[in-house]
Amino acid sequence: MSSEQYFDDDPTVASDPVVVDVTLPDTAFTMETDRGVFSHGHLDTATSMLLRAPLPLATSGDLLDLGCGAGPIALTMARRSPDATVWAVDVNRRARDLCRRNAERNALGNIRVVHPDEAPADVRFATIWSNPPIRIGKQALHALLLTWLGRLAPDGTAALVVQKHLGADSLQRWLTDNGHPCERLASKAGFRLLGVSPHAQSDDPEQAQR
Ligand SMILES: C[S@@+](CC[C@H](N)C(=O)[O-])C[C@H]1O[C@@H](n2cnc3c(N)ncnc32)[C@H](O)[C@@H]1O
Repeated sequence: MSSEQYFDDDPTVASDPVVVDVTLPDTAFTMETDRGVFSHGHLDTATSMLLRAPLPLATSGDLLDLGCGAGPIALTMARRSPDATVWAVDVNRRARDLCRRNAERNALGNIRVVHPDEAPADVRFATIWSNPPIRIGKQALHALLLTWLGRLAPDGTAALVVQKHLGADSLQRWLTDNGHPCERLASKAGFRLLGVSPHAQSDDPEQAQR
């Protein structure tokens, strides 16, 4: 059995591309998936729950798909908000290549696929959506979320979808305790959809003036 994980930087497992149809109430597209990248051959159930939820989504500015994988979240954001710029970040090179190809496949010119270190530091996100990489471990996950949620615009919103048995409820408490008010927006089939607000004591000068 392979010891590779979907969040490896550079998967070496043999490629096996599979095209998947993604059909949502308001849009539909196809995307290529591959081995070595999360949810090979299907749209993940948690991701589907997030994409079907009536979540706020900014129509302009910068949006973030944190941990884009093959890109189902980034592609949906880009379709729903054609005037916005969608940043799709992932540590996994194969995921980034797939997401880039999937943006091209769907003629979506408003997606920027980058390694996390390549996202410009001054960009603030109006919306962050993520099916986050829970399996990287609690400490790494907490650090990752604080880094990116810290870049929410003062009036921005974030949504995370997390399995209950992988600690969704404790993550909700932890985020709230760490300055990011976090509420349960929906609960279905063992998954929680969490809504997260910007840090209450943001160092953003515009917010400080409010
Ligand atoms: C649960 S998967 C979700 C993938 C995709 N958004 C979807 O819904 O199908 C989480 C993704 O986060 C990526 N990831 C892991 N660590 C990361 C990090 N430090 N920064 C950015 N992405 C990371 C993984 O490579 C993986 O593609």
